[in-house]
Amino acid sequence: MHGFFSIAVMKKSVKKNKYRLTEKENVAILNIVIIPIIKRRYKMNSNAFRSLSYGVYAVTVWDEGRPTGCIANSAMQITSTPATIAISINHDNYTHECITRSGKFALSVLGEESDVSVIGTLGYQSGRDVNKFDNIAYELKGFMPVIKDACAYITCDVIDKMDTDTHTVFLGKVMDCDVLKGGEPMTYAYYHKVVKGKSPKNAPTYIPE
Ligand SMILES: Cc1cc2nc3c(=O)[nH]c(=O)nc-3n(C[C@H](O)[C@H](O)[C@H](O)COP(=O)(O)O)c2cc1C
Repeated sequence: MHGFFSIAVMKKSVKKNKYRLTEKENVAILNIVIIPIIKRRYKMNSNAFRSLSYGVYAVTVWDEGRPTGCIANSAMQITSTPATIAISINHDNYTHECITRSGKFALSVLGEESDVSVIGTLGYQSGRDVNKFDNIAYELKGFMPVIKDACAYITCDVIDKMDTDTHTVFLGKVMDCDVLKGGEPMTYAYYHKVVKGKSPKNAPTYIPE
């Protein structure tokens, strides 16, 4: 209330040309009065993000003589003709480095029947440290590794990208896609509720517990 009163008084004085606010005073009013009001108005309740829906995917790449990749929930179809897919990959992920280098990525759509150990192997360690595909069955589709135990695969050539502070959104033009085992694709909600899985820090949807 006091804040509003002082602003009103100041406005009046400014109008009458009696007093002009210095830059420091402007900044102080912004920080002490205006920003707290805006913050109170917009709750920024991050639980809202939990109501967004996703799938669970293996994003794979061919890395100088071996397959590698990571798990991503952030993948979506952007256009149908020509078909394009966007994925969001953390700058620190080794997969990010490989996609940037090769300009390609593949997406394997994991299903409710897929072995969940694939999520542990690809999603909780780095291809910098281990050969992730030592114990994961894969096949090559146009020189791109895809997971055998998946509903479907899509291979892409990167045609654009957009950087954020932590993640790069890669836009891929679909070069090939087909159904593998079919079945029910795993949703992110299923992964959390039924598999009781968590999301590590590098997932864009990570919310500290
Ligand atoms: C369910 C789940 C969803 C994930 N989603 C993403 C994602 O969308 N983008 C991302 O960059 N990392 C995501 N991650 C984290 C990466 O898979 C993880 O950091 C991985 O270890 C990176 O491996 P790399 O260093 O070999 O690329 C997710 C992990 C899990 C388990």
